[in-house]
Parts: sequence; structure tokens; C-alpha cells
Amino acid sequence: MAKDRGKYYITTPIYYPSSNLHIGHTYCTVMADAMARFKRLAGYDVMFLTGTDEHGQKIQKIADEAGLSPQAHVDKIVEGIIELWKTMEISYDDFIRTTEERHVKRVQEIFRRINAAGDIYKGAYEGWYCTPCESFWTDTQLVDGKCPDCGRPVEKAKEDAYFFRLSAYADRLLELFATNPGFLEPESRRNEMVAFINQGLEDLCISRSSFDWGIPVPGDEGQVIYVWLDALSNYITALGFPAVDGTDGEDEKYRKYWPADVHLVGKEIVRFHSIIWPAMLMSMNEPLPKQVLGHGWLLLDGGKMSKSKGNVVDPVKLIERYGVDALKYFLLREYTFGQDGLFTNEVLLNRLNADLANDLGNLLSRTTGMAEKFQGGAVYKPGTGDYGEPALDEAGSLVDSDLKSVAVSVAATVEAHMDVFAFNHALEEIWVLIRRSNKYIDETAPWALAKDPAAADRLNQVLYNLSEALRIVSILIYPFMHYSSAEIRRQLGLAGSQVAWADAQAFGICESYALTKGEALFPRIDVEAELEALEAEAAAAAAAAEAPAAEAAEAAPGKAEIEYDDFDKIDFKVGKIVEARRHPDADKLLIFQVKIGAETRQIISGVAGSFAPEDCVGRNVIVVMNLKARKLRGEESKGMLLFAEDGERLAFVTTDAPDGETVS
Ligand code: MSP
Repeated sequence: MAKDRGKYYITTPIYYPSSNLHIGHTYCTVMADAMARFKRLAGYDVMFLTGTDEHGQKIQKIADEAGLSPQAHVDKIVEGIIELWKTMEISYDDFIRTTEERHVKRVQEIFRRINAAGDIYKGAYEGWYCTPCESFWTDTQLVDGKCPDCGRPVEKAKEDAYFFRLSAYADRLLELFATNPGFLEPESRRNEMVAFINQGLEDLCISRSSFDWGIPVPGDEGQVIYVWLDALSNYITALGFPAVDGTDGEDEKYRKYWPADVHLVGKEIVRFHSIIWPAMLMSMNEPLPKQVLGHGWLLLDGGKMSKSKGNVVDPVKLIERYGVDALKYFLLREYTFGQDGLFTNEVLLNRLNADLANDLGNLLSRTTGMAEKFQGGAVYKPGTGDYGEPALDEAGSLVDSDLKSVAVSVAATVEAHMDVFAFNHALEEIWVLIRRSNKYIDETAPWALAKDPAAADRLNQVLYNLSEALRIVSILIYPFMHYSSAEIRRQLGLAGSQVAWADAQAFGICESYALTKGEALFPRIDVEAELEALEAEAAAAAAAAEAPAAEAAEAAPGKAEIEYDDFDKIDFKVGKIVEARRHPDADKLLIFQVKIGAETRQIISGVAGSFAPEDCVGRNVIVVMNLKARKLRGEESKGMLLFAEDGERLAFVTTDAPDGETVS
């Protein structure tokens, strides 16, 4: 491949920092990394973007539960994500966080531009809302009355909100799919999207007022921008677009790299990327991404991996046991792009043994071992050094030419597979060469040649051909397994030399090798013993997760011990409920007016299932005064009321003391 082939801009989704990432997230990032490394090696000027999607109700809720501010929560999780990518040496060029100033100000500008185009209006939104997915759904989209993405219950939600005129773009979107079939792959997803548009596109709610962890709508501080408009914009805000006051010129990267060559995304977010995102760009009159690629999910026996369900595979654990390259190889080789795949420890271990320990590991150790043993590690191009060109019989010529023709043809096939994101086929092709090389050892039997002094030239030639094959392998695997690539090159005596893709298509270009046998590249795994060990580890982790709670329960039933200072931070007072009514937009909530001495404040509690409003008025209750105020479905709640609970039934915690008195 020639150098300077132009630019290549690839992105992953930006991940929710709700908790640590699992192997499903790793899968997408590993694919993007392999592609970015491949394109760089092929001579492209690559921009590889990833990041985190940090706003929204779900993050706010998780942070609340953890007793942290949303910012402190996301800072902590994002640190772990960056650490994971560092361990895996993910070669991103930029990492965007949606809480960064560079993103926030540009999202507001994007809102302004879409508004200026006449595509935003204020209305009232009513729909079914799935909190974990942060998605609104219409009646027809629900599956058995539940969220079509995750199958969880949904709630009716209604509030003032801004809308994006998505419906106005239906025709242009249909035209996009019709005239540019490559825009969205695989084809099955394209058909789904066309059907979705044909059902009738509704305008999109792009703001919320019931929580505040988001980017304020410019000019309306009571509303925050709904996460998808915020999140999708990352692909251009990271490039410095749009230029906002005082940042003219900062969109240099945008002019260089936009439009994106590919947005790599999981299948459930294809809809956002291939319908909403293009419509936003159309509204701003900006070019569309060239391609959206939807990949499948990694599944566990019990279904989809999910952080909220707690059934996840931790990539860090696998890396600790088998190494980064083994994990990357497995993810790229085992699964077919676009399809779902089942993850099991057994499939993983068998794949690592067969392909890495046996095929690749053996080729390297046999070649370096024999070179050391028979020639002290020094191997020369035939006709140079101490060795001449041996005269070959027909069989010898045939096996040599077959090895060479396989070796030099793989790179082009790999390129063709990479063009369509067929990582598994690309690796399969590389393994054709690895297996051919192992067979070459059996066919040429170097150990027999070593016994015959007259065969010294042939022995050197065989070892040279094997070294060349390994050199080519080291280049071919570089995008997928760069540590192993470097280790093979070290053992061949090529440490520090430049890895160039064109060199994978030339056989016989190295004058000499200085081979050294190193540690096994991938030690063979005793599958049965390892499976037992993995199960034991999982059981221990589950026990450890329960242990702190159990210990605390033994020490004193209930929650963990706290210091007096912690308790003293809470300001309790007696309050009298003077008014109670149902929340107009939420079945579970009651809105109370509570008189606390001279002050009357509004407090909302999720107790509508247990009390009728009229049963509450007149009670003297305990109020937590200094709990941070928040909005619940558009209504402010300032403080909290205490209730007693026996698992099913709620009771007020009442007192005879008059309202306004301090409780301590
Ligand atoms: N924040 C949004 C994306 C915004 S992009 C502008 C989001 N985040 S996520 O953290 O929930 O998911 C990120 C990606 O991880 C998605 O593409 C999703 O498909 C992928 N995966 C999550 N679990 C997965 C598997 N079990 N298997 C494969 N990919 C999975 O959505």
C-alpha cells in the first residue's frame, strides 16, 4: 500500500460512565483500535475518537445513590475507563468527555444553529420513558408494554420540552438510504431503519426539565439538553466545531477530518446514529458521516450483558490472566461483525490454545529453537553470509514456492477483509500463513537436515524462509496484537526496526536474522483446570461482594457504622403537613406543603401507593431540612420526609412536638 492515502476518521460510541466497562464495551473499542492501527500502517492520517457520555438522569441517580455529586461520580468512573484503555494500549487520538467546557459550549451553539434553522420548537412531551435507557417511546414502540431495548418497565412522563423537527427530515433520510446504500451496514439494520422511518417519524424531544445534570438550553436555564443531542454532537465538538465566540480557527481539525469515515456503534444505537444524527447535520447544513456500522452484542448464557443486571465479564480479569493480546485476538477472531455472539470461558480458552499457543506460539518457538540449536541463531539470506544457494529437487522447490506465494498474498486479502470490517476473516487469512509455515517445518524436517553436513545450505534456507514468514506474520498481526508483533520481531533480531505494511508483501528482503528463543509467546492452558479456577474466582468475587454487608449486619443490624460528625451534618426538624396532592405527571409521587415554623416548603415523596393525600394533612412529621433540592417531574422538592417501612407497608414517623422544633 502506498503512503499518504488521505485521512481516516473513526469513532466509537461515547460510553456511559455509570459504572466500570465490561467486555461488551471493550469489544467495540478493540475493533476501532485495530482498524485505526491498520489504517495508520496502511498510510492514512488517522483520527480515532472515543470518550464518555456523562450527562443524564441515570448518571445523576447513580451518583445520588452513591452519595456523590454527579461530577465526582463520573470523574471516578472515567479515570477507570482511561486506565483500562491505557492497559489495553488503545491508540485513540482524542478522548472527549461531555462535561468538558470545549464540548458544552459547542453543544449550546449546535442547539442555537438548529434553532436558527427553524427546527426547534417548545411543546409538551408525553410519552413512555425508560430511565435506564434514557429513551422515550411511543405506545406502538413498546414491546408487551415494556422498553423495546431492554425489556424493563416504562413510566408515563409529561413535561414542557423543546422538540427537534425530526419529522421534517423523513424524506431526505429515506433518500439517503436509497441513494447511498453503504451509509448504514449491515443491510438488515438498513432495512429496519427504512421501516422505522416509513412508520412515521415523530419530532424528537431534545430537552428535559425534571433533572438538571445536563447542558443548559441556551436562553432557558430551566431546561437541560436531552442526552442524545448532547452525546451525538461529540463527534464534531471534539474536532473543534462549531467555532464559537473567540474560538474561530479552532475547527481546523473539523475541516481536516470531517466527515467521519465510520461511526462504529452497537446495534441498539444505530437508530440514533443513522436517523437523528444525520437529521441534525442536515439541519445545520453540514456534511453527513460516510458510514455508520452497527455491530452485534456479546451475550452471556443468560442473555445480554448488563451493568445494571450485574452479569458482566470484566475485561481486566481476563487481561490479568491471559494478557492484552490474547483478549484482543479472541474478540476479533471469534465473532462475526454485525452478528451477536455468545461469550463463554470454554470458547475463549480453546481458541487461545488452538490459535495462539499451538499455531502461532509453536511456529515461533520451533523456528527460534532450531535456529539457535543448529546455527547459533544466525540465519542468512541464501547466497550471503556463510551459506550458498542450495540446489533443490522438485519437491523442495514446490514447498518453498508455495510458502512464499501464500506469504506474499496474505496482506492484500487482509486489506480486502478489513475494508468490510471482517476482522475474523482477516485473522483467519493470517492464520493460513501461520499454519502453512508450521506445515513447511514438517515437510522440510530441519532436524533431519541438521544431521547431514552436506545439507547445511538447505537447512539455512529453510530457517531463512521460516524467519521471513514470521517477519511477515509480525507485520500482519501488528494492528491486532502489537505486543506479540514486537516480541516476534525481538526474537527474530529485528527489535526496533520499523513495521511497514509494504514489507509484508515482499519475501526475501532481509539479509540476515539473529534469532533468540524467548519465553513462550502464549503458554498452553490446561482448559479443565483453568475452567475450575475461573469458576472458583467468580464464586469468591460474589462472596466478597456480599461480605461487607454481612459483616456490617453482624456488627449491628442495618447500615454500616458512621462517625458522629456524619450524623451531625443532617438537619432534622419537625414539620406539619398542611397540604397534600398527587403529582400531575407521576403516579407514585405526592406533593406536600410542609410548615416548619415560619417557613412552608414543598417536599415530594414517592408514597402515593401507600397514602391518599387527605390522610396526610395535619400530621406532624420529621423533615430532613438540608437535603439538596431537586426537581421531580418538573416540580421542586426541598428536603425529605421520614417514613418507617416494614418491606411492604409504609408509616409516617410522627411526633407530638410542634412544627419548627429541632430534632437531634
Ligand atoms: N452513551 C451511549 C452512546 C452515545 S454515542 C453518541 C451508550 N453508551 S453505553 O455505554 O450504554 O454503550 C456504549 C456501546 O457499548 C454501545 O454501542 C453498545 O452497543 C455497546 N455495548 C454494550 N454492551 C454490549 C455488549 N454486551 N456487547 C457488545 N456491545 C455492547 O449507548
